[in-house]
Amino acid sequence: MNSVAIVTGATRGIGRELALTLGERGTRLVLTGRDTSRLEAVADAARKAGGGPDNVVSVAGDVTDPLHCAAVVECALDRFGAVDVLFNNAGISMRGNVADLTPEVVDRVIQTNLTGATIMTVAVLPELRKRRGSVVFTSTLAALYGFPGVSIYSASKMALTAIAQALRAEYGHEGLHVGVVYLGFTENDAEKTILGADGKPFHHERVARLTQRKAAEILIRTWLRRRSRDLTVPSGILLDRAARWFPRLTSRLMQRSRGVVHRVRKRGPEGDR
Ligand SMILES: NC(=O)c1ccc[n+]([C@@H]2O[C@H](COP(=O)([O-])OP(=O)(O)OC[C@H]3O[C@@H](n4cnc5c(N)ncnc54)[C@H](OP(=O)(O)O)[C@@H]3O)[C@@H](O)[C@H]2O)c1
Repeated sequence: MNSVAIVTGATRGIGRELALTLGERGTRLVLTGRDTSRLEAVADAARKAGGGPDNVVSVAGDVTDPLHCAAVVECALDRFGAVDVLFNNAGISMRGNVADLTPEVVDRVIQTNLTGATIMTVAVLPELRKRRGSVVFTSTLAALYGFPGVSIYSASKMALTAIAQALRAEYGHEGLHVGVVYLGFTENDAEKTILGADGKPFHHERVARLTQRKAAEILIRTWLRRRSRDLTVPSGILLDRAARWFPRLTSRLMQRSRGVVHRVRKRGPEGDR
């Protein structure tokens, strides 16, 4: 597999596992994320996993910054001369009811998940259009329905479905592939934090349905098979059908499940709270 992939959010979690899995398969990689030392560690691990010394580069930066997005593409072209696939994986999650949301949390989640993924896509699009390339969005089951407690996260990821649909409508005839992967709960790094509705970060712990390796494999499969979407777990397929065929029942079930669907043990960075 001699293709060139850009992976955003490669410093941790699913993005790190995606980088390692692609590295093992010999994909040439451009990895991004803000945490410079973590990013370099993942790049080193991807080289050792099989990418080789010259086939993995990293560009640290914020996905919400258009200059960073341009720099990522420039780096890919300087080093490899092409881009075949963009994995739009960087993201941030939150928990809290709508009434408790602060404008800062709304803005940060939308900026990272929607604006970041969109402007990175815009930056890479000219290259992808030349090569019948792919864009793969890491989405969530919460993009299939507005889950209680994750409203703005749901909204940001649902909006990516619209971006994906528009991309297909505008460039599908040229051969552009666009995939959306609706991941079920995936194992988290122990130190992962998400935002409370008040903007305070807390550790996020709950039962996972997918390993990070499995999530990475599904993302890669979506790219290679040029799938439009993957619902990843049985509950995703069920929710997708239920929301379309039984909307009132689904709404009632969501009301009953509030406080359960996204119940998490809240532990601040310093310990339980
Ligand atoms: N874990 C799950 O159960 C699950 C389920 C469905 C979907 N997802 C989606 O999967 C993706 C990865 O999730 P994860 O669980 O692996 O989360 P994670 O461990 O918190 O990793 C998030 C990644 O995004 C990067 N990132 C966040 N904000 C960024 C910014 N402004 N600019 C650049 N990079 C940024 C982080 O890097 P830096 O902090 O170094 O910048 C990190 O590499 C997200 O899009 C998430 O919504 C996760």
